[in-house]
Amino acid sequence: MPAAIYAEGLVKTFGDVRALDGVDIEVPEGSVLGLLGPNGAGKTTAVRVLTTLLRPDSGRAEVAGIDVATHPQLVRRSIGLSGQFAAVDDYLTGRENLQMVGQLYQLTSRDARRRADELLERFNLSDAADRTAKTYSGGMRRRLDLAAALVVSPPVMFMDEPTTGLDPRNRMALWAVIEELVAGGTTLLLTTQYLEEADHLADTIAVVDHGRVIARGTSDELKSRSGGDVVEVVVHEREHIPVAERVLRRLGDGDTTLVEHTRKLSVPAAGGAKLLAEVIRELDGEGVEIDDIGLRRPTLDDVFISLTGHGAEDGEEPAAKAADVETADKEGKK
Ligand SMILES: Nc1ncnc2c1ncn2[C@@H]1O[C@H](COP(=O)(O)OP(=O)(O)O)[C@@H](O)[C@H]1O
Ligand SMILES: [Mg+2]
Repeated sequence: MPAAIYAEGLVKTFGDVRALDGVDIEVPEGSVLGLLGPNGAGKTTAVRVLTTLLRPDSGRAEVAGIDVATHPQLVRRSIGLSGQFAAVDDYLTGRENLQMVGQLYQLTSRDARRRADELLERFNLSDAADRTAKTYSGGMRRRLDLAAALVVSPPVMFMDEPTTGLDPRNRMALWAVIEELVAGGTTLLLTTQYLEEADHLADTIAVVDHGRVIARGTSDELKSRSGGDVVEVVVHEREHIPVAERVLRRLGDGDTTLVEHTRKLSVPAAGGAKLLAEVIRELDGEGVEIDDIGLRRPTLDDVFISLTGHGAEDGEEPAAKAADVETADKEGKK
């Protein structure tokens, strides 16, 4: 199958920072690649290079078979992009913004109206459709930007952290739209900080860290590397931490991690729910009182620990909390 997105040895530096440090990417036509990585990993830089917004220092890339460096205009005609470079016009209403995009892509005005209505509905913007975009909250703008990127289905689509800042309901709405898009044959590269999201949407995942791809595979492959599910226990007494640690190390399938101040211990648990029951029994037998215990799916952090020996954000500046955007969004909530 031909690659709809292809990149080889991409390097991009900003001063001392090697934002891309030799990135290779290949996305077969009609499939979805999830570029998974923490803040500052180089995801946006990769998207900007592939969408012709930024020239790499070295390496080369093709999108839809067209070289991004030599024919950027042609590339732009084959792609859709949503992310931090929103094309939303503040002085138009939500509806007008979407209709304008439709007309730019030469839909008839009837089709442009219909598509705009459909997307406003899906992203819960119908009530705000006739207000100017400058009155929108952060979360609403985010949704309008996504809707704008989805007015037409380009052969190749890039979405940079599409669900960051969306509440669960709108996240589900977006996932559904993405699934339709892909079913229609669009090739998609999306970036995310959430393993769960890459898991849900992507055929294959490339994990990026410090400008490099440090692992590739399906989400099942990545998860099994990190030991699959994780058992998390919060013990009641600080003094019980060593005993609990011993029990988890014995029963679990990998290294235990401890967050001292919350008294939370976790361990990879390939055995899933069965192991959970065993842990409860053993801790009870040792007289360890438990405040909370549960089984959770592995996160980006777990994958990082298994790949690099450290968490995703270790040694990084604290993540910008873009995910809080939607909390300021009164409009989108009932
Ligand atoms: N225009 C820029 N000028 C200087 N540094 C940049 C610029 N864009 C990105 N960087 C740096 O490059 C690295 C990768 O950034 P980015 O691609 O935005 O990461 P991500 O999207 O994964 O969070 C970070 O260290 C970031 O600070
Ligand atoms: Mg980014």
